[in-house]
Amino acid sequence: MCAIRRKADTQIHKSVVIYRPMTPEQVLLTRKSFAELTRHEHVAALVFYRRLFEMDPSLRPLFTTDIEEQAQKLLDMLGILIAMLERPLGLEMELRAMGARHLDYGVKDEHYATVGGALLHMLAEVLGSKFTAETKAAWLALYQAVQTTMKAGAHEAGRSSDVSAAPESRH
Ligand code: HEM
Repeated sequence: MCAIRRKADTQIHKSVVIYRPMTPEQVLLTRKSFAELTRHEHVAALVFYRRLFEMDPSLRPLFTTDIEEQAQKLLDMLGILIAMLERPLGLEMELRAMGARHLDYGVKDEHYATVGGALLHMLAEVLGSKFTAETKAAWLALYQAVQTTMKAGAHEAGRSSDVSAAPESRH
């Protein structure tokens, strides 16, 4: 396994999240691949959750719903990521609150890297040759920004966080 941990495009300083903005091309690439994913949402959900539970079987009990609802939840999760492109600052409080809620679901800081890894795997499977190096870099930048803000919210709600850890990548 090739686990890549890199210090980030983002950092936390005195509870303020500082982003390195995505380029217009990265925004376009993530939008295009999101549109493609919505056409294959069930396959995407199957691939994503299968890889997630392979990577960390202890996460299985955190998810209470069946595959139909999980497909919708994956799209909700991706929708939040894409919403970041539209209004990165407006979404910050929402993401922090969501990060705090995730504590109640039993989510720990290290799980974000696992989910990021499963997400990259699913994108590679579903998008095939369209998952270019540039597209991958664009999704990494986006996931990095969202997870950093969610972890900051969890941190404020009472846990210490290594907020800048990048998704675990196997590609
Ligand atoms: C970029 C990161 C993530 C995003 C945008 C995201 C988004 C969401 C959204 C929109 C929900 C619906 C409920 C709510 O809004 O509170 C949700 C639920 C949930 N998320 Fe996340 N999430 C992320 C990371 C994670 C991670 C790292 C885990 C760890 C395994 C996780 C586990 C869960 C669980 C267990 C639920 C409840 C599912 C259920 O009721 O079956 N999420 N997530």
